[in-house]
Amino acid sequence: MNHLLDFQNVEKENLEKIINSILKLNIQKLKKIDSFTLLQFNESSTRTRLSFSIAAQKLGINVVESQDSISAKEKGESLIHELETFKSMGIEALVIRTKENNLEEYKNFNEISVISGGFGNTSHPTQALVDVATLTKLNKFSYEVPVTYVGDLKHSRVFSSGRELLTKLGFKVGVFSNEELLPSNLDNLCVFNSWEEVVENSGSVELLRVQKERIENIEGFDFNNYKKNFQLTNEILENTSDDFVVLHPMPINIGIEIDDNAAKSKKFIYQEQLKMAIPARVASYQYVFGAI
Ligand code: CP
Repeated sequence: MNHLLDFQNVEKENLEKIINSILKLNIQKLKKIDSFTLLQFNESSTRTRLSFSIAAQKLGINVVESQDSISAKEKGESLIHELETFKSMGIEALVIRTKENNLEEYKNFNEISVISGGFGNTSHPTQALVDVATLTKLNKFSYEVPVTYVGDLKHSRVFSSGRELLTKLGFKVGVFSNEELLPSNLDNLCVFNSWEEVVENSGSVELLRVQKERIENIEGFDFNNYKKNFQLTNEILENTSDDFVVLHPMPINIGIEIDDNAAKSKKFIYQEQLKMAIPARVASYQYVFGAI
């Protein structure tokens, strides 16, 4: 039994196995996993929730759903009592999305597998798997040039997990943002100060949404200044090489992190990322259930 809460305790060899599994997945020939999984999404989600649900069905896993707002958590139940209850009812895996950053509390519970579907600004490992599998499939990786994340890095769990995964795999990570949205720890990151620097030095970029729900004093946030400095436009894309690609985990706020024209560019490969959503969640279940 494994957790997939972040990549801290996942060996590089296992990460490579998971990514290979995503890329080679034959959805018609999946070995069934006889189990119950609980999806507990306490924050909104389209892609992650649906793909975990569909991936479970493909694997023959029975899915039940709940959320804090309709559970006994509302009456003050502790996390340990909740997890013990899940275990007693035969739930063997929990996929959870939460605004909290309390991964460690789940890591200590070893009787069911816990998969992060997004924890606060700390972890979204299966999105990182989607992104790395997409770049691998399209042959867009080089050890020499970074994958650069642009935008609200400080509040982004996609960035946290992407940085962790890429670094563990030996790839470089770049960042481009303003001071207030940079992560506090800049160790081993290539920090860029303009779109020109990003384009000149990166093979791909991943745009990030401004995480309005996690920014204190969002009323005071200067969106016009943000757009002026960090919005991706067609003019910027015109200066990129033919094989340069742009990723986005979605949901996209067109008109903020990307303009309407750039969002229609062939270099913007979000649809390739979408194709990886179910394979990445199938492989995530297989990993936590010891099937890869
Ligand atoms: N990328 C992502 O996590 O999308 P959802 O919020 O729709 O799950």
